[in-house]
Amino acid sequence: MEPGDAVVTESRAIEVLFSAAEIAHRNDALARQIADQMGSEIQVIAVLKGSFVFAADLIRALHGAGVRPRIDFMTLSSYGAARQSSGDVAIQRDLSDGVAGQDILLVDDILESGRTLAFAKRLLNDRGARSVKLCILLDKPGKRAQPLEADYVGFVCPDRFVVGYGLDYAHYYRELPFIGVVADP
Ligand code: IMP
Ligand code: MG
Repeated sequence: MEPGDAVVTESRAIEVLFSAAEIAHRNDALARQIADQMGSEIQVIAVLKGSFVFAADLIRALHGAGVRPRIDFMTLSSYGAARQSSGDVAIQRDLSDGVAGQDILLVDDILESGRTLAFAKRLLNDRGARSVKLCILLDKPGKRAQPLEADYVGFVCPDRFVVGYGLDYAHYYRELPFIGVVADP
């Protein structure tokens, strides 16, 4: 433990912000929009860890919309265990496949400062992707440090620290089936 690390010592009340049913409904709408605009042959790249639950549901919604996505993952980190972005983005685990000539749907949990996804988008473009569209579960537009907007947005999120549906606070709460706010984290 270092100064500034977060510690969770007990379970706390979580206020539901977006329910499981609302999320499922929204994923279906996003998938239809993506299918209409990107067609059926897309390469989904999910940014770990935060997007794994969203990406898993989204690809099944894409299946329902007639898309045949291929999936790859990359682990990027800018936060560590802290609640403030450090500003530095690092590749902790790279993609398994090349992206040259591919139409990419880059999937992440939250767009906040934009540093993580601006980095990822630049990387994919530098590696020769044919197109890169950005799909995020939550948009927090209040703290943008890079001029980046997503092509597909699940929900606009209030400027509060949220957990669940893949999102963590100090590695906890990813398993919650809804998105919520920890009371007094
Ligand atoms: P940024 O856009 O580079 O600032 O990074 C956004 C990343 O910060 C997201 O992918 C999350 O991993 C993390 N993040 C930002 N806000 C929250 C939150 O409210 N809960 C959990 N993680 C968050
Ligand atoms: Mg993340």
